[in-house]
Amino acid sequence: MTTVLRDRSDAGLASDPVQRPSSAAEPGPLRLRVEAIRFEAETIRSIELRAPDGSTLPPFSAGAHIDLALPGELSRSYSLINADEDGDRYVVAVNRDAASRGGSAYLCETLRVGEILPVMPPRNSFPLVETAQESVFFAGGIGITPILAMIRRLEAIGRRWRLFYAVRDRANAAFLAQLAALETIEPGRVHLHADTEAGSVMDVVARVAELPADAHLYCCGPTPMIAAFKAAAAGRPDDQVHIEHFVGTAAKPTGEFKIVLKRSQKEFTVPAGKTIMDVLMEAGVRVAHSCREGVCGTCETRVIEGVPDHKDNVLSARERASNKLIMICCSGAKSDRLILDL
Ligand code: FES
Repeated sequence: MTTVLRDRSDAGLASDPVQRPSSAAEPGPLRLRVEAIRFEAETIRSIELRAPDGSTLPPFSAGAHIDLALPGELSRSYSLINADEDGDRYVVAVNRDAASRGGSAYLCETLRVGEILPVMPPRNSFPLVETAQESVFFAGGIGITPILAMIRRLEAIGRRWRLFYAVRDRANAAFLAQLAALETIEPGRVHLHADTEAGSVMDVVARVAELPADAHLYCCGPTPMIAAFKAAAAGRPDDQVHIEHFVGTAAKPTGEFKIVLKRSQKEFTVPAGKTIMDVLMEAGVRVAHSCREGVCGTCETRVIEGVPDHKDNVLSARERASNKLIMICCSGAKSDRLILDL
């Protein structure tokens, strides 16, 4: 089972080759201009970004996200919703979270067309398996964003898909017009569930139980939806079940350990209750980061020696077992020492 967590309101491996960082030591951001901001639903805005000189942007695949650097040293990850063949623009959608920690409030209320935003190039921690016989998507609220890009991709290459899209009410449902257009091409593929109309939340367990055994299942939505989906899909092969959450882990490393930065030959002690990232940032070592909750994959770092104690929700079971990668914002060590590719 692939589990990826990202806080996409305010604030996605699987076995497939995807755009992942080689290390938390990352290249600098792109500087992109806000070309358009559109109303998508009551609390949702989409933001289109282009290079000021109109040049081609780094490529991406369906399910990818970008990190936006915002005022106040905030960094937030958002899924790309446009088609991956768009070479010169990135489009994300942001839900104005009532409990915003600053990111979604800024993007929905303060950001203006024409502003320049630092943007980290796309990476994909929630990849689409394009060869599946059928792909079935479960989206909750703003969780529709990576799934919209995946549906667009499957539509472009003529692959079968179905969508179960749960929203509180239609006023808060984004992209209904685009989904309705897809329904006119081939009816019966989009199943919208509005809680206020149905009088209850979508019965994810019942929906999953009806699906063919060889289908690839994807889910992105709030925690209760993910929990129901996980339970319902528990008997299916891990590599056919793909999950992306909204929120991260609160877990922190529990014991003291040492880290050695291979490239700089620096050594640090990480005390209990602190993360590797805490220690490095306090020491003035610059490392790429975004969510700091084990959600986005930005801080992924190669482990040269030692055994990580994984606390993230990004790495697949196979990646965890390899002991070759670690999310330094949350994970600790089972060995006394980790040597990192930093
Ligand atoms: S997983 Fe997001 S910063 Fe570490």
